[in-house]
Amino acid sequence: MGTPGAQKEAERVLIDTYGRVATDLRVSLTDRCNLRCTYCMPEEGLQWLAKPELLTDDEIVRMVRIAVTDLGVRDVRFTGGEPLLRPGLVGIVERCAALEPRPKISLTTNGIGLKRTAAALRDAGLDRVNVSLDTLRPEVFQAMTRRKRHHDVIGGLAAARAAGLAPVKVNTVLMRGMNDDEAPDLLRWAVDHDYELRFIEQMPLDAQHGWQRSDMVTAEEILESLRTRFTLTPEESSTRGSAPAERWLVDGGPARVGVIASVTRPFCRACDRTRLTADGQVRNCLFAREESDLRGALRSGAPDAAIADLWKAAMWGKKAGSGLDDPSFLQPERPMSAIGG
Ligand code: 5AD
Ligand code: SF4
Repeated sequence: MGTPGAQKEAERVLIDTYGRVATDLRVSLTDRCNLRCTYCMPEEGLQWLAKPELLTDDEIVRMVRIAVTDLGVRDVRFTGGEPLLRPGLVGIVERCAALEPRPKISLTTNGIGLKRTAAALRDAGLDRVNVSLDTLRPEVFQAMTRRKRHHDVIGGLAAARAAGLAPVKVNTVLMRGMNDDEAPDLLRWAVDHDYELRFIEQMPLDAQHGWQRSDMVTAEEILESLRTRFTLTPEESSTRGSAPAERWLVDGGPARVGVIASVTRPFCRACDRTRLTADGQVRNCLFAREESDLRGALRSGAPDAAIADLWKAAMWGKKAGSGLDDPSFLQPERPMSAIGG
């Protein structure tokens, strides 16, 4: 660890010892969720954070303001748990969209409730949305999420597209024996509905610690399955850059499909992310085992500059990689729903 050196101290960016600069902030607005995806949460849910532990709307906007105006953050993504469960979401988006310089604002959601709020979110300044959907079959949805809400998600997606939150992206996790036969059907459907589909390899971030590498459907398998029905050509772009998804043109384009090989081809070397949990902890990596408490500083009256310094120090110590391939890998203590996707 250590603190940023004098020269770096002067730079108003979130740089780490490997020279990576974080410009993409993910903010978890709540750890709660109205689904129980098996790769994320146990049936009974989790011990939720108590209200006083959560950052208030004002505290969130202040943290985003510091990130954007003092630390070079350009993209802000609200996540959860399920961010649509946060009552103040529209107001938070609106206030963040009014910041100078204006960040790009996006949302990762399970889509439940989006039907009602998509237009208000767009009017507030939301630029883009990613909706999680793993299956086209309601009964498989129920088995994977333990809730009968498939219809709401499909409706939410349509509402997002109608509201002009384009490109609407769909995130899919494949699980063996559940939906691993569905990749081509999902892609056909996404292309027909003008959604950009992205498959994400299942990561060891479930609260139950049930992840096993051998169960994971790999990016290679997903591509092989898609190629049974589509011609995929790598998208022409000079590099993958910091975008974790590798993208392919579907049958010559313009439709695309993405595959995020978070486990088999991690993108840590180009990572540009910093994370803020719903209870005000900065995490420099999804897989970090430490977090830095900024809520304490916020609530003890620290000025912006002091908070910015704490944030910089938290990022400076970011590890080179997720450590997933290390036999000594330990899952982070908090699950994905508490960290923010
Ligand atoms: N592995 C991969 N993706 C996950 N998500 C949630 N848990 C996992 C996991 N263990 C996905 C959700 C959502 C995004 C935030 O991350 O489906 O699309
Ligand atoms: Fe909720 Fe997302 Fe976790 Fe599913 S993966 S239970 S939608 S937080």
